[in-house]
Amino acid sequence: MTENRSQWGTKVGFILAAAGSAIGLGNIWRFPYTAGENGGAAFVLVYLICVLLIGIPVLIAELTLGRYTQRNPVGAIKTISPTGLWKILGYLGVISGIMILSYYSVVAGWTIGYIFKTAFHQTSDFGTFIANPINEVFYFVIFLTLTMLVVISGVKGGIEKWSKILMPLLFLILLGLIFYSLTLPGAKAGIKFYLQPDFSKITGRTILAGLGQAFFSLSLGMGAMITYGSYLSRTTNLVSSATLVALSDTLIAVMAGLVIFPALFAVGMEPTQGAGLVFNVLPKIFEQMPAGTIVGIFFFILLAIAALTSSISLLEVGVAWAVDELKFTRKNATLLLTGITFFLGIPSALSQGASKFFTEISLFDRIGFLDIADFIFGSFALTFGGMLLSIFIGWKWGANKAIEEIKFGLFKESTTLLNIWNFLIRFVCPVIIFFVLLNIFKIF
Ligand code: PHE
Repeated sequence: MTENRSQWGTKVGFILAAAGSAIGLGNIWRFPYTAGENGGAAFVLVYLICVLLIGIPVLIAELTLGRYTQRNPVGAIKTISPTGLWKILGYLGVISGIMILSYYSVVAGWTIGYIFKTAFHQTSDFGTFIANPINEVFYFVIFLTLTMLVVISGVKGGIEKWSKILMPLLFLILLGLIFYSLTLPGAKAGIKFYLQPDFSKITGRTILAGLGQAFFSLSLGMGAMITYGSYLSRTTNLVSSATLVALSDTLIAVMAGLVIFPALFAVGMEPTQGAGLVFNVLPKIFEQMPAGTIVGIFFFILLAIAALTSSISLLEVGVAWAVDELKFTRKNATLLLTGITFFLGIPSALSQGASKFFTEISLFDRIGFLDIADFIFGSFALTFGGMLLSIFIGWKWGANKAIEEIKFGLFKESTTLLNIWNFLIRFVCPVIIFFVLLNIFKIF
């Protein structure tokens, strides 16, 4: 273990960074459109169960492994299992992080574009905006560059302090928007769609989508939380931190749905329209509401910042690996990985109409490069990685050894709670995920 490894400034700083990683486009962009495509309330229910039974236990497991080993995901796995194939799981995390970052930055670019679109009252629709290759690549590069600059300078400095003010602000704006959205005529149908589950809509696909969304939204399955845990000291309470992070993440996602669905039904749009959903609906709200321009500008700025506190964790996994294992300097590692991400992101940037090939390409039921990449890396790889991680931590390292590590920093030791975690991580997580994954192969 290296002596001069950096650590979080404060406990609050760590929680904010972890919550910052979790809260992002996953909550405000991906959650509503995935819910819309998968039956609304039925999906929300499945999602909540996935967070509780699988998300929180895996989050605790990742933080624990990171804190115990004080290493990046590849190094952490090698510390527990120096020989053998398990370390591939670490590389899978690095690759997933870069691949997710490549398209995540494209979508984050849309939010930056929408700051200006709202400010200058450009009325072109979302489809036209994203089909323009110059827009797409320009905003993508801006966002990726911002991510790079923050990661080069280390996470501790600005972002910890910024998040403290800006994330509560995002919460307040969402709260205001909920009230506005709920008062729109026709909002009731949206509330019903979003909150009244139709159980017949729950299929294997719904469960896969819910599980995939839980992993994506909590930043699990690719080692981001192992990496964040590795900058912790043993005074932090891992169980309460994980619970707090998961609760705030879930709250923001549920709130985003409460803004989107009532408004969606009020303006008579389709919930199943896919990735453009929030970009189509939100401007409609801002157009009509009092002081909508200002609110809209603020909203997209905050959303871009929420995306930034997530994208840095996607890049940080690869950077921590290159610094720890390959002895790169932080700066060189960041520059190199950002360069690679840029090339990998171009097909996604052009997949919204700019290039016919990348727009129409279809695989696994998904159409367009961005959607396919999101399915393979944002859903499948994270879920698969989560299954292997729970097996690795629960069985290879051993849940009991992990519990010895969890015990450092607890306020009060509750044997029942620790036993529940032990059971969930060894049996419930791997088994449920396994069956859900089997199901996709049947569907294909
Ligand atoms: N959790 C982030 C979000 O919801 C995305 C993310 C996924 C970040 C995986 C890190 C790892 O926006």
